[in-house]
Amino acid sequence: MISKIEKLLNKVDAFKAESLDEIEKFRIELLGKKGEVTVLFSDFKAVPNELKKEVGQKMNQLKNTAADKIELLKQELSSNREVTVGSDLTLPGEPKNLGSRHPISLVRNEISEIFKRIGFVISEGPEIEDDWHVFSALNFPEEHPARDMQDTFFIEKNPDVLLRTHTSSVQVRVMDYQKPPIRTLSPGRVFRNEAISARAHCIFHQVEGLYVDKDVSFADLKQTLLYFAKEFFGEKSEIRLRPSYFPFTEPSAEVDISCSLCGGKGCNVCKYTGWLEILGCGMVDPNVLESSGIDSKVYSGYAFGMGIERIAMLKYGIKDLRMFFENDKRFMDQFSGNY
Ligand code: PHE
Repeated sequence: MISKIEKLLNKVDAFKAESLDEIEKFRIELLGKKGEVTVLFSDFKAVPNELKKEVGQKMNQLKNTAADKIELLKQELSSNREVTVGSDLTLPGEPKNLGSRHPISLVRNEISEIFKRIGFVISEGPEIEDDWHVFSALNFPEEHPARDMQDTFFIEKNPDVLLRTHTSSVQVRVMDYQKPPIRTLSPGRVFRNEAISARAHCIFHQVEGLYVDKDVSFADLKQTLLYFAKEFFGEKSEIRLRPSYFPFTEPSAEVDISCSLCGGKGCNVCKYTGWLEILGCGMVDPNVLESSGIDSKVYSGYAFGMGIERIAMLKYGIKDLRMFFENDKRFMDQFSGNY
């Protein structure tokens, strides 16, 4: 019996294969149902008791050696497959899909870069906020509708804890610890209790800017926004400002940009007006500066805010805002290659 095992061990050791078929044939020959090793195991009963231990160990060694050798040969063959005779080395390689950035991130990064070039510093803050940073410090009257349950997501047990409805809250935090001059840009995710449609979502993204220094004027604001419009939408872009209202700015304005799609001639995107509304802005209300301990007799400032989804929809011609949140691979793949 021992000599039979030795013989088989030598056979395993000497075995070489050039194809998976050969290896499989060898496996069946040894380890298959009627294989030589399997037959040995069934003959084990006949081995005298005093030899069982030695023979048993040898048999196990043989079985393991054979299984290991088969596995090793299989691996060697598959890792060498590319260079085996007959394969075509001129075939193109397999493409590696690296994924791509989300269009919201692309637009956020582009907007941030434009403002960084004129000295703005990026600031971030918490998405779960308190009433002070989102509303009170920003001069929202007690009864302002934005505080209403219908607009703001509150934590049920504590009405002082809420999801921020705009990133102006981050700017309150910056003013709390930084003295003017302040030039800061706050991109981030915001939440409003709105019905989801092609034009609105309960989660969206904003970029808000704040500049506080001595002698900051409305002319500075207008020039900065014109610079942004030209950098982002093209040199030919123009802007127009319409009077508006925000609790935290006075005076306030709504900013339109000349329609980049039809060049101002009128099309269905700008609803044949030639203009697209892109952001809100204004001079920081003195009450807001004072709430953060900034002397409003010495300093003045401007602020602006825009929705990233809106800008991205204009840039890429996307008609339904919900696409940004669905993570549909067919949609996302269209932005591959952009970093
Ligand atoms: N915070 C405003 C909003 O969320 C936008 C804004 C920012 C308007 C700064 C004016 C000045 O709609």
